[in-house]
Amino acid sequence: MKKTIKVRHRNFGSSYKYTVGRDILRNEISKAKNKYRKIVIVTDETIDSLYLNDFENDFEIAKVVIKPGEQSKSFQTLEYILNEFSRFGLKRNSLVVVVGGGVVGDVAGFAASVYMRGIDFWQVPTTLVAMVDSAIGGKTGINTEYGKNLAGAFYNPKKIISDLIFLDKLPEKEVKNGLAEMFKHCLIADKKLLDGLIENPKSLDSVLNSAKVKIKIVEKDVLEKKERKYLNVGHTIAHAIEKDSNFEIAHGQAVAIGIMLEAQISYGLGLVKKSDYEYILAGLNKLGLETDYTIRNFESFIEFMRADKKNAEAVPTFALVIVPGKKIAVLEVSIDNITKILNA
Ligand SMILES: NC(=O)c1ccc[n+]([C@@H]2O[C@H](COP(=O)([O-])OP(=O)(O)OC[C@H]3O[C@@H](n4cnc5c(N)ncnc54)[C@H](O)[C@@H]3O)[C@@H](O)[C@H]2O)c1
Repeated sequence: MKKTIKVRHRNFGSSYKYTVGRDILRNEISKAKNKYRKIVIVTDETIDSLYLNDFENDFEIAKVVIKPGEQSKSFQTLEYILNEFSRFGLKRNSLVVVVGGGVVGDVAGFAASVYMRGIDFWQVPTTLVAMVDSAIGGKTGINTEYGKNLAGAFYNPKKIISDLIFLDKLPEKEVKNGLAEMFKHCLIADKKLLDGLIENPKSLDSVLNSAKVKIKIVEKDVLEKKERKYLNVGHTIAHAIEKDSNFEIAHGQAVAIGIMLEAQISYGLGLVKKSDYEYILAGLNKLGLETDYTIRNFESFIEFMRADKKNAEAVPTFALVIVPGKKIAVLEVSIDNITKILNA
């Protein structure tokens, strides 16, 4: 079984399809062979060895394989991918199939956006995070020595294909990273999604329901002027925790802690009801997401929040839950208030 929905981008006047199903990639590639002169897969070594060993032979298509991990979101990897595209003779009528988590999606999507000023590409997300979040919305990019995602482009794929087969061997830690983002989607858009998520996070419906939340938001606001900011729930604190922990805390876990601490701020400011605050804490608990964290250096932790590139001024901005599943507010919170509430 598979389900497909259309993603329409008002800002770009374009649309593409998001499909989720089991064992659907092979069939899609077979069909694409009639349309495109050349097809290249870009993936990482882990995904390649687990799932893509026979793709080259079965489909007679080339593969570009990069190292797994955040360090691949670099100028060097981008250059390597672009040179491989040239070596394989990709032209404007070629297709790049990006098979991977957010790292491969970001760097290879960026490569597709600049190669010959942009060629067709598909996102084939292989982590839960990528299926419900990073593959959707057209953000591609790499890190520079000055920070994360500082070079990139908004560039939409021609298709997103979430093939559930890739979740079979996804490590538990990566499942939890995805769960934190999926819970965030429940908090933004629909509390009712939580039960299904707890029961079977890797099911077709859980993935589709969660992806739909992001799709609806980016359809309205791809350039992050308004609604897309709601997706930052938990993230102002999460980014500071990642830095405070010297990146020992994984992004998903930092998001779970961020959701908890930001709910505390919302409650401390009198913006969220006690029962809703408790609902948020219980939800994290039910999903088995750990939220214990002791801030190592409070002063630099605050500085990290002030310096976040998403703040217009040096005052931390939060997407705070006001009513779970119904209302989010994007607000600046003073350093005094943050300090008082988090130290209470
Ligand atoms: N573009 C966006 O809008 C957006 C949004 C959120 C996050 N991101 C980016 O996404 C990146 C994180 O992505 P991620 O969480 O998917 O991590 P990832 O891409 O680093 O993948 C995590 C690990 O899981 C492995 N892996 C991937 N799929 C697998 C599978 N099916 N089975 C077994 N192992 C598998 C990978 O090799 C890697 O080691 C960050 O760089 C972040 O900045 C981008």
